[in-house]
Amino acid sequence: MKRVCLLLAGACFGAGVHAQSVQAGKVQKIDSIEGGYAFHLENGYATITAYSPTIVRIRITRSRPEADFSYAVDDLTPHGHYLKKTEDALYTDSIRIAIGKSPFRLTFLNAQGDTLNSDDPDLGVSWEGDQVTSYRHMAMDEHFIGWGEKTGPLDRRGQSFVNWNTDAFGYGVNQDPIYGSIPFFIGVHGSVSYGIFFDNTRKVLANFGGGVDDDKYYFGAPAGEMNYYFFGASTVPGIIEDYTKMTGRAPMPPLWSLGYQQCRWGYMSRYELLQVAEIFRQKKIPADVIYCDIQYMDHYKVFTWDLQKFPDPKGMIDSLRGMGFDLVTIIDPGVKIEPGYKAYDEGTAKGYFARYPGGKPYVGSVWPGRCNFPDFTRPDVRAWWGNNFKESHTDMGIRGFWNDMNEPAILGGKEVPTLVEFNTGTLASVKNVFGLEMARATFEGTKKLLNQRPFNLTRASYAGVQKYSAVWTGDNNPQDEHMLLGYRLLNSLGLSGVPFVGMDIAGFSGDASPDLFLRWMSLGVYAPLYRNHTAINNRYHEPWQYGETNTDYMRQVIDWRYQLLPYIYSSFYQAHTSGMPINRMLPIEYTHDTSVYKDAYGTEFEFGDNLLVCPVDSKTLVAAVYLPQGAWYRLSSDQRYEGGAVAYVPSPIKDLPVFVRAGGIIPEQSIIQNTKEAGDGTLYLHVWKGDRGSSYTYYEDDGQTYSYEQGNYYKRNIRYEPRDSRIVLDKAEGPYQTRFKRIRLVLHGADGWDKVTINGIAGQATKDQKVYFVELNNSNDPITIQW
Ligand code: GLC
Repeated sequence: MKRVCLLLAGACFGAGVHAQSVQAGKVQKIDSIEGGYAFHLENGYATITAYSPTIVRIRITRSRPEADFSYAVDDLTPHGHYLKKTEDALYTDSIRIAIGKSPFRLTFLNAQGDTLNSDDPDLGVSWEGDQVTSYRHMAMDEHFIGWGEKTGPLDRRGQSFVNWNTDAFGYGVNQDPIYGSIPFFIGVHGSVSYGIFFDNTRKVLANFGGGVDDDKYYFGAPAGEMNYYFFGASTVPGIIEDYTKMTGRAPMPPLWSLGYQQCRWGYMSRYELLQVAEIFRQKKIPADVIYCDIQYMDHYKVFTWDLQKFPDPKGMIDSLRGMGFDLVTIIDPGVKIEPGYKAYDEGTAKGYFARYPGGKPYVGSVWPGRCNFPDFTRPDVRAWWGNNFKESHTDMGIRGFWNDMNEPAILGGKEVPTLVEFNTGTLASVKNVFGLEMARATFEGTKKLLNQRPFNLTRASYAGVQKYSAVWTGDNNPQDEHMLLGYRLLNSLGLSGVPFVGMDIAGFSGDASPDLFLRWMSLGVYAPLYRNHTAINNRYHEPWQYGETNTDYMRQVIDWRYQLLPYIYSSFYQAHTSGMPINRMLPIEYTHDTSVYKDAYGTEFEFGDNLLVCPVDSKTLVAAVYLPQGAWYRLSSDQRYEGGAVAYVPSPIKDLPVFVRAGGIIPEQSIIQNTKEAGDGTLYLHVWKGDRGSSYTYYEDDGQTYSYEQGNYYKRNIRYEPRDSRIVLDKAEGPYQTRFKRIRLVLHGADGWDKVTINGIAGQATKDQKVYFVELNNSNDPITIQW
């Protein structure tokens, strides 16, 4: 019928009228296939397969799908048989997919029969030429969260986005697109939530509805498959766990990369770099990492050194190491066109560069001038790229790599023509994964060369980047709104599977005011990647550049980051094992509390299990913060607040509003100047009194090798049981010996806690101002502290 109308329309309006959209149409036949079912449709073909009871994949194509492929998902084979079929539905133990047959429409329900999400009844999946779009029903009260590194408010409802990785120098707080594309989101309505990952790498468009009467939202791509995963786990953490089960989880980072990182575009010489490192040590400001931006290279040629400005790089790196610093170097993808330059000669001889149709390598201009660009989608090119780090980097002692300009960026904001060819397709389908594949090449190559954990950082990203790299949010601005946006970007990246994230503190594109600098540095403690960076012509940004008294405060702030490292490292272990991010937007835990979706509180986040961070700009000295249900203590004063309400709290520049969950457990260590220092051998186990019990998993390993993958770690469950007035450290798991020989238990918010027993033997708690503490020897056996 529809076709007849189209023909008629054509006849009516004559030549020049384009065809209208085409719907998938009726179901004509259903076959059973490996892991699921195939649907022959009037105008297409669909498969539904399951990877677990809560993970279902839908592929819809015009004709039979081409060979299955993904940059994000390593194992596309559905193992196991989770899907069963009735006349009008497919179901697993956890979800049911009701199938409309005329036309083809899917409705996803949970085991209780609540609708999670469905195709829009009128539009479903449609094509306009090659453009494929899924129109979906949007509930009246639906909120959307995630979708990777996207600007704007936390709740994506009412926003639309384009995925097209872009070099976005000085981007606006609502600018789109910027550097990364992760087409994964979570929808929340009523008492349910669900996740969708649209694994299409082209210029994907998503429109999460707008007007009040809207009842649909949609996502689509200019070509390729309507290929999405539907996640039906019943909680947001469960959905994230499933999403990262498919796209992978972050490996444990090198411990040194969690210390403070000092960067600047414009450390011009070996002399300057060493001097900056020395000042950190003289001033007793802890730091682990210093960076070389593009100046270290010979004419900006990747895998070379400018030996005039940076003579004897190995000697310099050894000197830095002697001071407890690691050096991280920038790596740009453009290979300078210069016969006689090894990377260019080899890449040309082997045909490793992306090409125009017909075979001429594509030429774009970046820092070194005219460049060719490796085709990172080819395994042999990735291996070659990875090996290039040997002489110029890993043999020198470098363990950290900063992958930049990989959108790929061409100077002057120029666009690479979409027909430029790569192994897996033209730029139209490769642009959004160019950065992912470059980061992968760098990671896999340097991991092999070092035989230990590299630190890898990338600007451009796609789903699954967490397996290879940390991500930073590019060239931000020294403005309050940008600092706040930065946290929403980190929180959204975290929800989208990427836990190791950070931003340029305190703004890349210009000079930060002193207040903004201080605020941003203190907030930076609560970013998984704590990295200060700015551009070449800006004022210097090192922690001592804002006056003596401010330097003292900067020292305190960075000291605190180092004290928190046992907590941060344990949070990374959670990310590694379950995908749970370090920075958790409030909807992760408080999914059905409508206050957490309000713009006013949309920047707040939990940092690990027990801290609540309320980013406040540098001008607001009393802030309205939303404290979710439960009770909270202000970290700086131990003042207790009842949650489920907005609190007006002082927020002077030197006292960021950060709260600890009542009943929360936070492991800390003594102040150290860098992570290679041993510290005082004491684990400071802080517990804040609460009505409800809690449990916490403490994790430790050697911080640099992969032996944790073989189980060489120290893991310990710690329980706070207020009803029985005790704290229990379960038996430690794993053969790794903790570096903490002693434990100091610090109890906050309690009264009359003088008398304690440790494993039944009477001991003494000491009162120190507002807290009680108990000292004990650490042993791997269970320890019960009772009062
Ligand atoms: C890009 C990067 C920035 C770097 C600069 C010079 O703008 O985003 O961090 O400092 O290039 O390499």
